Amino acid sequence: MENHAVSMEKIVSLCKRRGFVFQSSEIYGGQNGAWDYGPLGIALKNNIQKAWWKEMTQLHDNIVGLDAAILMHPRVWEASGHVANFSDPLVDCKDCKSRFRADDDTQISPENVEKRTCPKCGGPLTEPRSFNLMFKTSIGPAEDSSSVIYLRPETAQGIYVNYKNIAQSNRLKIPFGIAQVGKAFRNEIVTKNFIFRTCEFEQMEMQFFVKPGEDENFFEYWREQRMSYYPKYGIRKDKLRWHHHDKLAHYAKDAYDIEFEFPMGFQELEGIHNRTDFDLTQHTEYSGKDLQYIDQDNGNERFIPYIIETSAGLTRNVLMFLCDAYEEEKVADKGNDDDWRTVLHFHPSIAPVTVAVLPLMKKDGLAELAKEIQGELKEEFMTDYDQSGAIGKRYRRQDEIGTPFCITIDYDSKEDNTVTLRFRDSMEQVRIARSDLVSRIRAEIKSYSRA
Ligand code: GAP
Repeated sequence: MENHAVSMEKIVSLCKRRGFVFQSSEIYGGQNGAWDYGPLGIALKNNIQKAWWKEMTQLHDNIVGLDAAILMHPRVWEASGHVANFSDPLVDCKDCKSRFRADDDTQISPENVEKRTCPKCGGPLTEPRSFNLMFKTSIGPAEDSSSVIYLRPETAQGIYVNYKNIAQSNRLKIPFGIAQVGKAFRNEIVTKNFIFRTCEFEQMEMQFFVKPGEDENFFEYWREQRMSYYPKYGIRKDKLRWHHHDKLAHYAKDAYDIEFEFPMGFQELEGIHNRTDFDLTQHTEYSGKDLQYIDQDNGNERFIPYIIETSAGLTRNVLMFLCDAYEEEKVADKGNDDDWRTVLHFHPSIAPVTVAVLPLMKKDGLAELAKEIQGELKEEFMTDYDQSGAIGKRYRRQDEIGTPFCITIDYDSKEDNTVTLRFRDSMEQVRIARSDLVSRIRAEIKSYSRA
């Protein structure tokens, strides 16, 4: 019997077929660890970013935005501890040349590491050696040690080094947060599972600056905020869970991950970290600049703020939204391929296309009328127009890319100015006046919940 469950192979294949994500440099055999976002992929990624940005900067009065440069002074990464500590222990097989992260038991078991035997071919392994994950390049015409510069491995440091500028220029009072979305780069040794772990990726990070002693309460506050965020955009609650870290990163006092159940199992989606005053204390020491906050409401009390960080992968979010939305649903019983449809149940605010406009026929003025109606909708919504093929096939094409609403224009539309509005999830259809379309779709988006 055919398996209709979601799998990574199906997601990868759909993404390529419909233009969500392509392998980078595919015509040259592909570049490991890098992916290109096609027309639907960039629309989906932008919508996910927009939802997060709204959540952080619009719905929280005390959070502002930043877009810091990727290239930063190399001392930043010495101060942050990344030069010394941001590394993985690697072992290589001397026979088959496979490479493994010695601390990752999904790649190699602790027993294999201890006995130094390759899990693939049984050959001898090298001693574990430390491998720094930062990409190094050089700036300026000479390639010597003075020109070394790194591609940032996290966006967070751009926020820390700007925190005083931002607090002063915006007259921010603690507690406050700074949000940022941007590229990060890590020389990951094993890049597998499509866009889950890549060398070039995007993060959505928010750093929340609080008074020491208030950090634990805010840590709990942000844990609660972040876990309740994803279901607002349709992610099923039973696909999310917490993972409490027992091994902490060099900067953290406490850390939890929100994990999502991807096809390969529960894996990290977002981290919530109590980074204490570690980063700002380090930057004070390395830069020689005073990074204390002056609390004017409390007799000019001075302190280095503690930082609660929420750090989510944007590109990993894209994979989560795709996996969570994917369904192969039985819709008929004729014993052929048409019995099943592939549907992406995206929340309408996340879907790459919100409304598809479909004239029943190209002829008799229906195409012209449909274009006119699309013109009325496109100021408000991302629309698509499709006039080719049977209407059933066109619905299926839209289901497969997650378009929540389809509008069909038929001969009656010419007479009475009504159209058919079809809902992706239920496949129900209603007849509705053309003049009510915008307000009805707006209301449907607002009240949407996944069945
Ligand atoms: N500033 C803290 C920080 O960077 P992290 O746990 O290393 O923490 C945060 O990364 C998030 O960034 C992860 O939860 C994940 O969603 C995403 N991420 C990290 N490495 C990634 C990679 N190689 N590819 C894709 N996403 C990644």
